[in-house]
Amino acid sequence: MKKPILIGIAGGTGSGKSTVAREIFRSFPSEKICIIMQDSYYKDQSSLSFEDRIRTNYDHPNAFDTELLIRHLKDLLDGKKIEKPIYDFTVHNRKAEVEIVEPREIIILEGILILDDKALRDMMDVKIYVDTDADLRILRRLVRDIRDRGRTMESVIEQYLTVVRPMHLQFIEPTKRYADLIIPEGGKNKVAIDVLVAKIRQHLG
Ligand code: C5P
Ligand code: MG
Repeated sequence: MKKPILIGIAGGTGSGKSTVAREIFRSFPSEKICIIMQDSYYKDQSSLSFEDRIRTNYDHPNAFDTELLIRHLKDLLDGKKIEKPIYDFTVHNRKAEVEIVEPREIIILEGILILDDKALRDMMDVKIYVDTDADLRILRRLVRDIRDRGRTMESVIEQYLTVVRPMHLQFIEPTKRYADLIIPEGGKNKVAIDVLVAKIRQHLG
């Protein structure tokens, strides 16, 4: 196998980064590409009560087990398979099971804070920031968190105002400066996705 290419896709919550990752994924045969979500690497919080897990700040760099993420990415880049943790947003914790991820020629790393850590950034061949207006992001998040993540409207709004928004302004938005490419409007931006797919194809040769 050729040395894999690592593409990082950052951006605020609800920006459309998961959609961009999925669109790129769909453009290649599944044995050539994998997606690693930073969400999977939220720290294990099994020792905390449910109430304490609800109160955790999940938008701060310290919420993530970045050491494990870096180790896993190194393994994938070295052609080794990994045992990826699985995250359950409804209980705010890792599941007991893991998922085996086989090494692939194209690795997509997607998450709100993947451009915050220098060691992580330095591993990436292409760094992308998906830039979407905050009003669209909160609307998408509200719909998604109620539908998929077991939340109420009140809890999403309260979390957004007290944690998500301030952390976005302090930690996430500033990482835009590290991006090679800034994509407006995420998954609906077909031109940007076509450009990225062409770049990856060129790498594959
Ligand atoms: O997919 P998205 O980028 O929106 O996922 C990141 C978001 O997940 C963070 O903004 C964080 O507030 C949220 N999160 C949460 N509950 C958890 C873990 C993360 O609401 N237990
Ligand atoms: Mg997402």
